[in-house]
Amino acid sequence: MNIAVLCSGNGTNLQAIIDNINKGYIPARIAFVLSDEKKAFALERARKAGIETVILDKKEYKTREDFDKEIVERLKKRDVKLVVLAGFMRLLSPYFIREYRNRIINIHPALLPSFKGSHGVKDALDHGAKVTGVTVHFVDENLDNGPIILQKAVEIRADDTEETLLERLHKEEHKAYPEAIKLFVEGKIKIEGRKVTIR
Ligand code: GAR
Repeated sequence: MNIAVLCSGNGTNLQAIIDNINKGYIPARIAFVLSDEKKAFALERARKAGIETVILDKKEYKTREDFDKEIVERLKKRDVKLVVLAGFMRLLSPYFIREYRNRIINIHPALLPSFKGSHGVKDALDHGAKVTGVTVHFVDENLDNGPIILQKAVEIRADDTEETLLERLHKEEHKAYPEAIKLFVEGKIKIEGRKVTIR
């Protein structure tokens, strides 16, 4: 199965996906890695792994939908069946969601529906939560809202900083995302309304 990975930053999740494909755990190939940030280190990781990269500059598109149309066109041209958001810090338009409904997944550094948005780690710490975690979920029209595929809990320690907590969250993300992608690629995920069951 062809998948595409969309990133804006460092790409440690992308790296975990590449490594798990290379060792045969995920039976898929990455058709391309796309970034909206030309300096994203994720692009370096993709190039090093011999994966095609695509950089799209939002300034060149009038609307969010125009930008997303370009992505969807490329996805279809390459017969991509699963879109993996890995630190892609852009909201997708309803058009994109419609075109790829139940075929776009995201990873979020908190136990949704708690601590939605782009500061999930800091927000959990500031709130004084004792447990947080990571969530892999389908993407729908609302922010961090779609059906949940899997979650892993991570305890928050009294002396945690954003950095130390993020390090432990990343360890879980790098296991959870490959696991969820494998399940999807192997056709083991069933969605009914908000409920996801694993066959
Ligand atoms: C990940 O921790 C992911 O959970 C988070 O961005 C990071 C990207 O790291 N995503 C969000 O906060 C989405 N709301 P990476 O580039 O090293 O994979």
